[in-house]
Amino acid sequence: MSEKPSAVQHLAIIMDGNGRWAQRRDLERTAGHKAGADNVLRIMQACRELGIKYLTLYAFSTENWKRPAAEVGALMKLLHDFIFHKLPDLQKENVRLNAIGRLDALPDAARLALLGAIKATRNNTGGVLTLALNYGGRAELTDAAKKLAQDVKQGKIAVEDVTEDTLKSYLYDPELPDPELVIRTSGELRISNFLLWQMAYSELYISDVMWPDFDKKELQKALDSFGSRNRRFGGIAAK
Ligand code: IPE
Ligand code: IPE
Ligand code: MG
Repeated sequence: MSEKPSAVQHLAIIMDGNGRWAQRRDLERTAGHKAGADNVLRIMQACRELGIKYLTLYAFSTENWKRPAAEVGALMKLLHDFIFHKLPDLQKENVRLNAIGRLDALPDAARLALLGAIKATRNNTGGVLTLALNYGGRAELTDAAKKLAQDVKQGKIAVEDVTEDTLKSYLYDPELPDPELVIRTSGELRISNFLLWQMAYSELYISDVMWPDFDKKELQKALDSFGSRNRRFGGIAAK
């Protein structure tokens, strides 16, 4: 994902709309999830061509357990199958697989496949694909606060020394740069508990296209929109 530099170093996507994509075709929701999973590698490849180094995909939220057990089971099976079948492609593309979220709660088969692929790709340097799995922004901040509180209690860090950088260092992956751009597909105008800390100053782009149909052309539209934004970070517009 890093052939030529892009103004967007880190792109994060809320992959929404698999269910509606399927409904419109009179298919089961799980067929939409399958089509969505098939789109992941295409977009990863597009990111590589466009010079985007980090791609983070919201694949399963801490709230998605509320769905019917059969749908949750199908999503976990898809995760397992995705890793099983696509690991050679990740290797070929020299992409490092990464994951954020409460991974311990994932079913064994999916978790073990995931951890195995993370390990197998750990030395790859062509880009980083991060899957947000059983991920919630609030859960991440809660987990960070807990670990920080423990370290304060054990005297490893003084309360007076806690800064924004300190808290950041307790996030699931402190090395991940903040995303410059966050895309949500399928038209909903909300964050749904994604990357709450990291997207404090991200540019948002909402696409009406359902995730399985979101392609390189749509991605380019989002990047063009990003290119026309004036990012002020609380300051004043550059002349
Ligand atoms: C996104 O598609 C995938 C997950 C949340 C796992 P949805 O399943 O949310 O699709 P819609 O929003 O019902 O269309
Ligand atoms: C957000 O989509 C989560 C993922 C894409 C994994 P949802 O479909 O779960 O979000 P809501 O329920 O519409 O907010
Ligand atoms: Mg949805």
